[in-house]
Amino acid sequence: MTNTENSPFYDYLVKLHQKYSSLNNGKIPNYIPELTEAKAEWFGISVITTDGQIFEVGNCDQLFTIQSISKAFVFGLALEDHGREYVNSKVSVEPTGEAFNSITLDEKTNRPYNPMVNAGAIATADLIKGDTATERLKRILAMFKRYTGKEHEIDVPVFLSEKATGNKNRAMSYLMLNFNMVSDRIEETLDLYFQQCSIRVNARDIAMLSATLANGGVNPITQERAIDEHYVQDVISVMLTCGMYDASGEWTYRVGIPAKSGVGGGISAVVPKILGIGTFSPLLDAKGNSIRGIKVCEDLSRDFGLHLFNMGKPKHNLQEWIGEGKIEND
Ligand code: DON
Repeated sequence: MTNTENSPFYDYLVKLHQKYSSLNNGKIPNYIPELTEAKAEWFGISVITTDGQIFEVGNCDQLFTIQSISKAFVFGLALEDHGREYVNSKVSVEPTGEAFNSITLDEKTNRPYNPMVNAGAIATADLIKGDTATERLKRILAMFKRYTGKEHEIDVPVFLSEKATGNKNRAMSYLMLNFNMVSDRIEETLDLYFQQCSIRVNARDIAMLSATLANGGVNPITQERAIDEHYVQDVISVMLTCGMYDASGEWTYRVGIPAKSGVGGGISAVVPKILGIGTFSPLLDAKGNSIRGIKVCEDLSRDFGLHLFNMGKPKHNLQEWIGEGKIEND
């Protein structure tokens, strides 16, 4: 167990958590009925450095469903399975400026716009190799285990709720089948997509997923490689341009950290070579992004100069602070 609670960075996170705990704007999504079980007060912040220090405040053990955050990581697995060119022939990498569930394909090529919107994520799930549905799911779960260092379960009620209400995703899949963008095992692939969205994680797991990407694809604690280093930049690039849906432009402008959100309330944010962030709060804005999570990332970016293009002197020196939070074994 890592003890980083004597660090000024931990004190900063405690204050940040206090600052936004009382922010009660936003709504718990109800378009997947089972998601309404979440509690508005749940709020966790976890930050994991590429040298394996874990800083966390609030509800970092609370499990929730990973939802769209899974899309970035399954995209990485599809790249490993087929390489860049083939994946790109089925899924483009252009931001849409449209909602995550819009039924739109690129007019010229008929490809879904990117792997982060539902259409692109379903086309990406279709690419995951395996002889049977079970094998394909097992490969996805094994991949998440490599990233987080632990076993993950599927939240079956959420999965069934998605499957029962996901007709828009079904419609999109048939549209893509019409254009030969996906294979005809539609229900199997939709199940796989709904299952990947229903994987249970906590804020620490999200931070570990992010930190592993930040660390070039190697889990900073277990030292296991989760993804071929060749594809890490592909995943992080698409997070930067498309990860926050139709808020991606504003996110990059304001926060400047590659990130991916999910309607379960999580946000994964990757500061390459330095750290990974995992936030969890289920109150979402109209675009499906966690409101407290956005605020936390905005503050971290501004106060520590984490924006990709920051040229100024930040308020706090992160290297000094995380350097002081040495790993102690208790
Ligand atoms: O396709 C769906 O509706 C969900 N399983 C994934 C949605 C998601 O997390 C989108 N947004 N934030």
